Amino acid sequence: MKRLLALLSDRLSPHGTDSARALQEALKAPRFGTPTGKAASVPGCAFLPEALDGADDMLRAAMAGISEELSWRVPGFGRLPDELGARMAAVVLVGPGGMIHHDEVSLGLILLGPRLQYPRHSHAAEELYLVLSGTLQWAIDGQPIGTVRAGQFVHHRPWQGHAMSTGPRPALLFWGWLGDIRGETYSMQD
Ligand SMILES: [Fe+2]
Repeated sequence: MKRLLALLSDRLSPHGTDSARALQEALKAPRFGTPTGKAASVPGCAFLPEALDGADDMLRAAMAGISEELSWRVPGFGRLPDELGARMAAVVLVGPGGMIHHDEVSLGLILLGPRLQYPRHSHAAEELYLVLSGTLQWAIDGQPIGTVRAGQFVHHRPWQGHAMSTGPRPALLFWGWLGDIRGETYSMQD
């Protein structure tokens, strides 16, 4: 898992902001010791092999052998429709209740199945996304920002509504929350 955290930290460097640097700091795993989160799977994990097929060699290597050790969960804090949640999976790598505990930030991965529409939602946390695999259509504050591809960042200010949809292939993304990272602030807006 250290290899994955180090890779994600590297991938955040081009963003060059204080927010990205704070997430990179949290990704420096060695100080935290061994992850304590238990391995868990959810139905949406079925899309992971195809998502990794579309990823670059370094990411595939970093995920090889550890994807089944991760604490996958249904994203959305219980507020997503069941049929949507069943086609998604998320893992909190670092954060409150995450595989590695951290009080200040929350970060991890999210996997979205193909032809999926994640409706508009918002939360108090500032958020930085990095697409690792796949292609998405994205909207912020109800305004489409176009196609977002692997290697591209999307930043949301606190409470900014955002929605995304995948194409014919699943998408794997890094996400990081900063500031007020309480999950109870998460809400669907439509
Ligand atoms: Fe978000």
